[in-house]
Amino acid sequence: MASIRLQLVFLAPFLALLFSSGALGAAAETTNGTAGAMGGSSLAAAQSGVFSLDSYGARGDGSHDDAPALARAWKAACASPLPAVVLVPGGKRYLLSNVVKLPGPCKSASVTLTVQGTLVASPNRADWSDRDRRHWVVFRAVDGLTVNGGGVIDGNGEAWWKNSCKINKALPCKEAPTALSFHYCSSLRVQDLKIVNSQQIHMSIEDCSNVQVAGLSITAPGTSPNTDGIHITRSNDVQVTNCNIKTGDDCISIENGTHNLHVSKVVCGPGHGISIGSLGDDGSRAEVSGITIDSVQLHGTSNGARIKTYQGGSGYARDITFQNMIMGSVKNPIIIDQNYCDNAKPCREQGSAVEVSNVVFRNIRGTTITKDAIKLSCSKNAPCHGITLQNIDLKMEGGNGAAESTCQNARWKKAGTVLPQPCTSQN
Ligand SMILES: *[C@@H]1O[C@H](CO)[C@@H](O)[C@H](O)[C@H]1NC(C)=O
Ligand SMILES: *[C@@H]1O[C@H](CO)[C@@H](O)[C@H](O)[C@H]1NC(C)=O
Repeated sequence: MASIRLQLVFLAPFLALLFSSGALGAAAETTNGTAGAMGGSSLAAAQSGVFSLDSYGARGDGSHDDAPALARAWKAACASPLPAVVLVPGGKRYLLSNVVKLPGPCKSASVTLTVQGTLVASPNRADWSDRDRRHWVVFRAVDGLTVNGGGVIDGNGEAWWKNSCKINKALPCKEAPTALSFHYCSSLRVQDLKIVNSQQIHMSIEDCSNVQVAGLSITAPGTSPNTDGIHITRSNDVQVTNCNIKTGDDCISIENGTHNLHVSKVVCGPGHGISIGSLGDDGSRAEVSGITIDSVQLHGTSNGARIKTYQGGSGYARDITFQNMIMGSVKNPIIIDQNYCDNAKPCREQGSAVEVSNVVFRNIRGTTITKDAIKLSCSKNAPCHGITLQNIDLKMEGGNGAAESTCQNARWKKAGTVLPQPCTSQN
């Protein structure tokens, strides 16, 4: 690193000394320099708490691997006792060739990654080792983390999609990276970013608490496999607002261990819609509660508001509200499926189920492209209960006949809604 920097930058001798001691981050914060040109400005920047990738040896030419530079800038920022910003400068493309781990805990109560330019993944799948094919950029155990900046995180996923077993059935099913992962983070803000063409899931929030996600644009082709927009699991107190998500899989997937999640002002489609589950696979326990999906639009998605659980599981999915939704050309606008099965052979009937209760669907209007506007396919042994359908107005696209609803084992009440028949109300 020292030699690269010395070639690139005109540096005052004392600065060269700091680099050779390998203590740039810590030293820069406590030393006042008046070195010339870039040396001086990067030093001043580090003093003000900004750790630019360009000061840590990044090229930003889209072809050299800048992952080591990002890791160094992160390390320095994370060791800073003052609020620190790792800056990805605008107007350039920084290649991060495979998994980049950005671990905490950090010294300061606040660390920010500001992406103004583009972080781009290697298009070459061989750059990932079999040891960890599931991740690209991973933050772990960082408190007070903000990721923002208006720039782009580009998973360059085309090669992964082509080689997915969902696209080419002859190939074995293998894992592909999630573009942006947050593990064990608290007080997390992710704001004002474009995440595009992820290899698989675009953003995953796991084991986090106190999370605000806002102003994201997430885009991948509708045909790209498994490219969920935002995936949330084992996390509490999460808000997602003002996002635009167009992908090939779930817009937002809400998995086991999510409690107190509020999603609002999100526009989805194409993709698979908003999904809670699948829960309870392989007889597992699931716990999901306190989910509000409010003011969401879905356009051309395969599902709208969906809860899906396998037979044979246990636990619960409860206190869930889907409200103020607009659906355009959605295949299955409202669906609870306690008999979900995506195996090649039919899943056998089982006695137990994840309990689905206190679910409200309210103020939902728009169009469906199949007759199934509302489908409540609940468990025979553990029927879903406390289901409220209120003010639902779903019509067949283009006026092609009446929309329908089907219900099995569902205890639901209608509150001021005229349902497409033939579901009969039970409590
Ligand atoms: C660096 O400069 C700041 C502000 O100009 C000053 O408060 C601080 O004492 C200086 N530190 C050193 C080590 O000279
Ligand atoms: C789901 O979460 C619950 C509660 O945290 C846990 O007991 C269970 O093992 C989890 N299930 C799976 C499949 O991870």
